[in-house]
Amino acid sequence: MSKRTIVTLPGDGIGRSVLDASIRVLTAAGFDANYVEGDIGWEFWKNEGNPLPERTLKLLKEHKIALFGAITSKPKDAAAAELDESLQNKGYVYSSPIVNLRQHFGLDICMRPCHTYKGNPLNFIRRGKGNEIEEPLVDVVIFRQNTEGLYSGIEWSDPPENVFQALKSHPKFEKNFGNIPKNEISISTRVFTKNAVERILTAAFEHAKKYNYKSVTVCEKPNVLRETSGMMYKMAMEIQSERYPEIELWNTNVDAQMMWLTKNPENYGVIVAGNLFGDIISDGFAGLIGGLGFACSAQYNPDSGVAVFEPTHGSAPKYADFPVSIVNPVAMIESSCMMLDFIGEEQKAKKIRSAVAAVIEEGKVRTYDMMKMSGTPDVLENGAASTSEMADAVIAKL
Ligand code: NAI
Ligand code: MG
Repeated sequence: MSKRTIVTLPGDGIGRSVLDASIRVLTAAGFDANYVEGDIGWEFWKNEGNPLPERTLKLLKEHKIALFGAITSKPKDAAAAELDESLQNKGYVYSSPIVNLRQHFGLDICMRPCHTYKGNPLNFIRRGKGNEIEEPLVDVVIFRQNTEGLYSGIEWSDPPENVFQALKSHPKFEKNFGNIPKNEISISTRVFTKNAVERILTAAFEHAKKYNYKSVTVCEKPNVLRETSGMMYKMAMEIQSERYPEIELWNTNVDAQMMWLTKNPENYGVIVAGNLFGDIISDGFAGLIGGLGFACSAQYNPDSGVAVFEPTHGSAPKYADFPVSIVNPVAMIESSCMMLDFIGEEQKAKKIRSAVAAVIEEGKVRTYDMMKMSGTPDVLENGAASTSEMADAVIAKL
């Protein structure tokens, strides 16, 4: 069988070091692939006025599967100031390459698993009934709609007249905002479409079915956001009763869910939400299992098969120029396991996950975050493992 080609998108900052560590682990686990690197990130913004060059889109279109590290994003004005002199004042406007990647390939399904590693000193603990310490076992998979909702980018400050008039045709707008000068109003719209909602719900239920989760929870706010959240919950009820009667459908409000986060996180299985709420609850659950060093994700389009696997964390610029990288590669390694599952290499993914779990449970090799140190270069002298030592420890367990 010919080797698979995987596009690597190291991006900025610590992206490259966690990606390199993951590829070493993949190779040691017997996953043999060609890796081709795609350009993405700040350097390409500064030098070309485009952080996601056309050639990178082409690569991904051809090979479909990418491992992505992280990128640096900066606000519009800061971005413009860093643009190469030859490109200044030529109409280049910075926009996030990740968001663009999602929109370009319609990567509308975002999946973020959060599960407890035994022995991780960062695990959430709480008091039980008899005041004893409990460490609940979290095993949650969040499905976040990734392309629309409040992140669809349809927003205005001082909206155009026709938009303002359209809004004024809504009695609530007319009553509460109709007298406010247009230039004092900023609006971000929350768009849900039936097709996208059906796709995210189906992905969530399918996952629950395949991996035997007993419940799917819609985590939105249908009592207030009656149109958008309401539509998702209503469609979830239909889909559940017609296609997945064996799976329980639960409904929580996002605010209450955050309050219950630490009360009974072990009760939840698959959770599905729109873009913003999905982003928030997945960070919330990630905090229970060790935070950014452990939070992995996949974003994919089930029709085209284009999929990008990446840690949830960013480029951590503070740490980018350390002589030896100190950041935790587990989130990236777990993201590459999600890639293996996606392309039908589940056995190799399982092997790697067991090795990661064994390293964490043994507790001899820990990155600085697991030792609750603040991230300075001297953590290595003080007993923390470097990024590559953590990868070596995983490889040794394979
Ligand atoms: P960040 O995730 O880069 O870092 C926040 C803090 O989390 C770090 O200072 C570090 O203490 C910790 N951390 C992150 N990754 C870690 C790891 N693997 N191991 C151990 N500790 C880790 O977020 P921040 O500082 O808000 O953003 C930095 C840049 O990254 C910004 O330009 C931002 O726009 C971008 N960003 C990119 C994302 C992406 O590429 N998907 C996601 C989030 C932020
Ligand atoms: Mg986030």
